[in-house]
Amino acid sequence: MTDGIQYWAVIPAAGIGRRMGADIPKQYLELSGKTVLEHTLDALYSRPELAGLVLVVDDQPVVKDIVRRYTQRKLILARGGKERCHSVLNGLQALHSHARPDDWVLVHDAARPCVRFSDLGYLLESVSNSASGGLLGLPVCDTMKRADADGRISATVDRAGLWRAFTPQMFRFGPLEAALHQALDDGFEVTDEASAMEHAGHCPLLVEGHADNIKITRPEDLPLAEYFLAQQGRL
Ligand code: CTP
Ligand code: MG
Repeated sequence: MTDGIQYWAVIPAAGIGRRMGADIPKQYLELSGKTVLEHTLDALYSRPELAGLVLVVDDQPVVKDIVRRYTQRKLILARGGKERCHSVLNGLQALHSHARPDDWVLVHDAARPCVRFSDLGYLLESVSNSASGGLLGLPVCDTMKRADADGRISATVDRAGLWRAFTPQMFRFGPLEAALHQALDDGFEVTDEASAMEHAGHCPLLVEGHADNIKITRPEDLPLAEYFLAQQGRL
């Protein structure tokens, strides 16, 4: 918004949803008549700050129908990769002709449709003023245990300073792409964008969001997501 810096989103939506165990990938399951993916797109597009969005998808017939409904802002399509990080890199690749290295990119899981409008705003505001980018997360509230190989407790882990990492994860386009490439070249396991940035020596900012930003993973998450969407007045 300032100095011509633009904001983009990359939505990895090319997973198979193994843990959900449905006939179709979980992002195409419906919550009150709309797919999980559409709820996620609606959440992102609700923010006027975003210049456009890259949707990373496999070749699914349903994608054409969905894309047709989102004409109000730039929507770029990219192909999925083997792991989530490869999908994200394909999404970043597709941004090259649109974004500049200093632009911000918000990577957000298609499987997180319930992210709040206000949490997105809080992330945009907090991270725009930070050097290293950042992500939504939440301090853990349960007591943490470390298990041994037999499933017995080997230690109670100090909870102080432990956070759950959510998405969106927001980084500058150039440094994010470089960090992901470097991590893959080094054989480092990339669990999220922040881990790649940490590997490259950055210290991303943790921005406190809300627990309703669930990642739909198993069947029991579907009614929960529906409930959270209803609570937000989005159904
Ligand atoms: N994803 C992706 N490309 C992959 C793997 C995952 O774009 N190769 C996306 C998923 O579509 C999802 C997000 O990354 O929106 C988070 O991944 P996850 O929740 O693990 O989804 P799946 O990999 O589909 O589920 P599972 O691990 O149970 O198979
Ligand atoms: Mg997965």
